[in-house]
Amino acid sequence: MTILVTGAAGFVGNNVVEMLVKKGKPVRAMVRNMDKAKVRLGKYGAQVEVVQGDIADRAALKDMLRGVTAVVHTVAISMEKGGQTYDKVNYQGTINVVDAAEDAGVARFINVSQNGASSTIPYAFLRSKGKAQEYVAASKLRWTAVRPSAIFGPQDEFFNTFARLVHLTPIVFPLIGGGKAEFQPVSIFDVSEAIVRSLDDDSTIGKELVLGGPEPLTLAEIEKRVIQALNTHRTFIPAPVALLRPAVMVMQAVLPGSPVSTSLLDLLAVPNTTPHNDLVETFNMQPIPFSGDHIAYLRNTSASEAIRKFLTNATVN
Ligand SMILES: NC(=O)c1ccc[n+]([C@@H]2O[C@H](COP(=O)([O-])OP(=O)(O)OC[C@H]3O[C@@H](n4cnc5c(N)ncnc54)[C@H](OP(=O)(O)O)[C@@H]3O)[C@@H](O)[C@H]2O)c1
Repeated sequence: MTILVTGAAGFVGNNVVEMLVKKGKPVRAMVRNMDKAKVRLGKYGAQVEVVQGDIADRAALKDMLRGVTAVVHTVAISMEKGGQTYDKVNYQGTINVVDAAEDAGVARFINVSQNGASSTIPYAFLRSKGKAQEYVAASKLRWTAVRPSAIFGPQDEFFNTFARLVHLTPIVFPLIGGGKAEFQPVSIFDVSEAIVRSLDDDSTIGKELVLGGPEPLTLAEIEKRVIQALNTHRTFIPAPVALLRPAVMVMQAVLPGSPVSTSLLDLLAVPNTTPHNDLVETFNMQPIPFSGDHIAYLRNTSASEAIRKFLTNATVN
C-alpha cells in the first residue's frame, strides 16, 4: 500500500505528502536534502518514512521502490546549476524512476508535468518536461499526468518571489515584460487534491490532466494582487525582458537563491493558461482563486527574509 513521493521535501511534494497522510495513506518520502526534509516533513515523525537519495542513482531507486504500490513523481529543476541540467534531472531522472517503477511492478504512477510541456517546444525546461512525459506515456505503467499552470501556496517560489521583491523595492516596481504574460494560478491545495484523487481513480489512467485556477491573469494583474496582499502601493515601471536579461544572468550566477532565472524570463513568452480545466471538468472541483485570504500567506515575507533567501537559498517556509 506504500506510496513513494519523489521530491517530497519540495513545494508540491511535501503538500502531496500532507494530503496523503491526512487520507491515512502510508507514505515513503524520497528527499535529497535531509535538512530541508526536517523543516518540511519533521512534523510527521515516524508516520512518514523519509529516505534520502538522488534520482540519478538507479540502484538507490530500486531499493526505495521495494513494497511500493504507487509513485507520485514530482522531482524536477526549473533552473540549471552545476551538473544539474534539465536533461539529467527532468528527463533522465524521470526515465530512472519510470524504469525502477516498472521493474518493481507498481500499480499506479502519477507524473507531475507542467502546462506547456512539449518535446518539440523551443524552451529547454518545457522541452525536458515534455520528453519526460513522453517516456512515461510510452511505459507499461498505469500512469496519469498532471499539467498545472503556475502553482500558488504558502511555500511557492514564484509568487513569494514577487512579494519578497516588493519588500526590497520601495516606491516603484518593475512590470516584467510589460506585464503581458498570461498565467492561470492554481492553488497547491487543488493540485494536491487532484493528484491524490487520481491515485484511486482509474478513469484518469493514460490521461494528461490540465490544472488551472478559476481565471486567467496577466502578470500585471498578478503583480497588482501581490502588492495589494501586502497592503502597500507601488508605481509600476515597464521592464522589458531584453533589459532585464543581463541583470538576471548576473543574479543567477552569483546568488544561491536567485529570485529570477533566464529560463523563467523565456517562459514568459509561452501563454500559461488552461482553457480546458480538469479540476472542473474531471474532478468537479471549484478551483481556489488567487485572491483575498487565499494569498494572505504572502504577508509572511519580509525584507530580511527576502535577503536571507536570495543570499543563501535557505528553506524559509
Ligand atoms: N511550482 C510550480 O508552479 C509548478 C507548476 C507546474 C508544474 N510544476 C511541477 O511540479 C513539480 C515539483 O515542482 P516544485 O515547485 O515542487 O519544485 P521544488 O520545490 O523545487 O521541488 C522539487 C524537488 O525535487 C528535488 N530534486 C531536484 N533534483 C533532484 C535530484 N537530482 N534527485 C532527487 N531530488 C531532486 C528537489 O530537492 P532539493 O530540495 O534538494 O532541491 C526538490 O525538493 C515539478 O515537476 C514541476 O515541473 C510546478
